[in-house]
Amino acid sequence: VPARLRASTERVRKLFVVGIGAGNLDHLTLQAVQALRQLSVVFVMNKGEDKEALLGLRRTICERHMLERPYRIVELSDPPREASILDYQARVAAWHERRVGALEAAIARELAEDDSGGLLVWGDPSLYDSTLRLIDQLRMRARVAFEYTVIPGITSVAALAASHRTVLHDVGGSVLITTGRKLRERGLPQEAGAVVVMLDGECSFQGLPNPERLEIFWGAYLGTPDEILRAGRLSELSAEIVRVRAEARQRHGWIMDTYLLRKSTGTEARDD
Ligand SMILES: C[S@@+](CC[C@H](N)C(=O)[O-])C[C@H]1O[C@@H](n2cnc3c(N)ncnc32)[C@H](O)[C@@H]1O
Repeated sequence: VPARLRASTERVRKLFVVGIGAGNLDHLTLQAVQALRQLSVVFVMNKGEDKEALLGLRRTICERHMLERPYRIVELSDPPREASILDYQARVAAWHERRVGALEAAIARELAEDDSGGLLVWGDPSLYDSTLRLIDQLRMRARVAFEYTVIPGITSVAALAASHRTVLHDVGGSVLITTGRKLRERGLPQEAGAVVVMLDGECSFQGLPNPERLEIFWGAYLGTPDEILRAGRLSELSAEIVRVRAEARQRHGWIMDTYLLRKSTGTEARDD
């Protein structure tokens, strides 16, 4: 076990923020597995319609990799966002504040001073996930003392590219990762040759101008046995993706999907 991951003899709580990949049990890195094996407590924070499915995957990961010592799973109930706060940024800030309080209380209550706890984060903690911001806030409040380590995971963006067996951008090009909300508000940025869209419950690709000049690489439930993929010209696939997505969501009760939009070049130059 690398020194950085080894439990030291100091009496200080240790937290591991572990990226667990985007849905495939084999996405877990060996570094993540080594960290998991040291944990006494696994904290899971869940939200959204996919809560039960994601919790199930986390449980399976724990059962598969944490055989060597006893551990507990502690679920943190996610406080609801207050609809009465109209400003989006203020609403999210208030929600984060309540989540910080919940995590702080759980660490103090559940983790003895020389114990290690883990926060299992979907995909990678650096991408559309607030766990690391919550931890920054916990450190600033300084009411519970702990050390922490971040372990990277396979993002849904990497899973999407792998399933479509494609490079995200053209040779030497750039890629923008954004949300469905931003795509609706701002459209496709002129300078971006490739855009990955996440957190899009509304199929925001529908309103884009010149769909015949765009390629879409769409993936839902990436990495899972239920994975669905579609790739081709946006003008030809847009309606089909909307239909397939609605049917799948109805069938499973939840959906997570991500897509890449790329300007059609008509060339195969994509090995950069
Ligand atoms: C809150 S973000 C979390 C992203 C995550 N931290 C990551 O590294 O991929 C959730 C969004 O990630 C995307 N996503 C996550 N897992 C996915 C999967 N298995 N298939 C398709 N999209 C996924 C979807 O766009 C979803 O709305």
